[in-house]
Amino acid sequence: MTEPLVLGIETSCDETAVGIVRGRKLLANVIASSVAEHARFGGVVPEVASRAHLEAMQPTIEKALKDSGIKLTDLDAIAVTAGPGLVGALLVGVSAANGLALALDKPLYGVNHLASHVAVDLLTHEAPEKPTIALLVSGGHSSILQVTDLTGDIKSLGQTVDDAAGEAFDKVARLMNLGFPGGPILDKEAKSGNKLAINFPRGLSQPKDMESQPFDFSFSGLKTAVSRFLASTPNYVRADVAASFQEAVVDVLLMKAIKACVDSGIDSLVIAGGVAANSRLREVAQERCASAKIELRTPPPALCTDNGAMVAALGSLAISAGRPPSKLGISATSTLSPTQPLFQ
Ligand code: KG4
Ligand code: ZN
Repeated sequence: MTEPLVLGIETSCDETAVGIVRGRKLLANVIASSVAEHARFGGVVPEVASRAHLEAMQPTIEKALKDSGIKLTDLDAIAVTAGPGLVGALLVGVSAANGLALALDKPLYGVNHLASHVAVDLLTHEAPEKPTIALLVSGGHSSILQVTDLTGDIKSLGQTVDDAAGEAFDKVARLMNLGFPGGPILDKEAKSGNKLAINFPRGLSQPKDMESQPFDFSFSGLKTAVSRFLASTPNYVRADVAASFQEAVVDVLLMKAIKACVDSGIDSLVIAGGVAANSRLREVAQERCASAKIELRTPPPALCTDNGAMVAALGSLAISAGRPPSKLGISATSTLSPTQPLFQ
């Protein structure tokens, strides 16, 4: 099956999302978000997310089928995020996928949310036949991966030792009472700010850190530095804080991702996950990759944040690679390493 027709379901956090792909072609991508219900709490409330998924699951599947003009019986396989994420939220998607696979008698592919963030790149760019470095930056994870085969050979070079990059954006936005999720808000705010106004710390980037933990990240010191600055500067300029904070995150993410390319001799970098939608990260990545002669691939911003197309994309890739489907009746798991892309 060279061009498998796959429906992908994503419910790991607050988006109920369904995507349909044929091979590497995107046919539908429908997202129902419960973010507005969480905003007043300043973060995602798991029980609220699970209930919202239950309500949105069926209409979202129906809309994706309608948008693509596909009938359920046309599908070759069902793919679903089986972890990591909020277990109650994941279970809604996994149960729906198990039910669909059973009723339609189609194979089921339980996939890793993190690997699928990287896989979505295949819907908009040519697949490189060579290994690539992936900078995976989302609300729950920040890692540098060496990807030889996205369906089976992924090595973790480093990850955050505390907050994820997206989490740092969300927490800093909360410190400034800017709303949730903070990433897109700070990104917009930073556009009119001076990125050199405040010299915020770059975590784990001192020479001794670059020796011992070259590919690990730390953002909690940065968050504390922003908090102290806000407390000691009553008339702070919001846009300057946003721009200077964003610059510190972008600088350290790219310093380490490019070092991973250089040290491993891999001249290809994919940036994926919600934070990959950040306009400054995309801009600086282009500049630095061009000067380091590294081929850069970033999915379009709308495919960087959680969606079902990325799940379908990894399912499709698994089929093309001849990977066996998961066992029917698979469950969900809240923690899962990005080095394990598929569930058995
Ligand atoms: O991948 P994602 O949608 O969900 C998780 O798997 O966590 O990532 C969500 C994270 C949030 O922390 C959000 O603030 C951040 O991605 N984010 C951004 C931007 N858009 C989303 N961070 C910085 N700049 C953005 N434009
Ligand atoms: Zn995600």
